Amino acid sequence: MTTPGRLPYPITLTGDGIILREWRDDDLDELVAMLDEPAIARWTPMPSPFGVDAGLAYLKRARLGRTGGSRIQLAVTTDGGKPLGEVLLFGVDAGLREAEIGYLVGAAHRRRGLAAGSLALLSGYARGTLRLSRLLLRIDPANTASTGVARRCGYQLTGEPPILQEGPYGPSSLDTWEQVAAGGSTRLERLRNVAARRYGGRRG
Ligand SMILES: CC(C)(COP(=O)(O)OP(=O)(O)OC[C@H]1O[C@@H](n2cnc3c(N)ncnc32)[C@H](O)[C@@H]1OP(=O)(O)O)[C@@H](O)C(=O)NCCC(=O)NCCS
Repeated sequence: MTTPGRLPYPITLTGDGIILREWRDDDLDELVAMLDEPAIARWTPMPSPFGVDAGLAYLKRARLGRTGGSRIQLAVTTDGGKPLGEVLLFGVDAGLREAEIGYLVGAAHRRRGLAAGSLALLSGYARGTLRLSRLLLRIDPANTASTGVARRCGYQLTGEPPILQEGPYGPSSLDTWEQVAAGGSTRLERLRNVAARRYGGRRG
């Protein structure tokens, strides 16, 4: 499959003790318990406090994004049952064949490799099935848990200027990390190619 206009729905991704599945309406209680948590409020754009109304709105938005084909948003599970986290792919640029990925894991389930395993699984699907050539993460450098996940999955820091964001728990300055598929170009290589074309043109 080449980079699609609409992302596939529904899907289940399985590997390495992890099953990524579509969100369901009966996940509401687990979702609210998971997202109403300080580290998630600090490092993601979730509303805080995160109550039942926020949960209902979140599941509705997830369903619209999935059925409309604009994003992939999957619950992280170990067995297809209870959701322990979430991983999502969004902001697909079909021309550049790139997209952004985000992730979170419930506080009770951290440091078990769930984020790294889920990121690796979704990244592999994005490169292999969706044929995306460059995957991006945006991470505040103070979020050492998330930079650890990025590193463990082979993502590398780019030199892109930080993206500044205000949040209820303080400002964030998001660095861009990238993973480039075989045959794709890093940001630095793209810049070098542009420069080479420009200066090559002048000499010619
Ligand atoms: C970031 C987050 C998703 C990590 O989830 P996780 O399932 O605990 O991560 P993993 O177990 O896969 O960790 C993979 C590696 O990352 C690093 N890491 C993870 N948590 C860490 C922490 N608290 N401190 C330091 N390093 C950490 C480690 O190198 C770890 O490997 P190790 O356990 O073998 O040492 C989780 O802490 C979270 O949901 N935080 C709040 C939301 C968030 O920040 N999302 C990302 C926004 S960019």
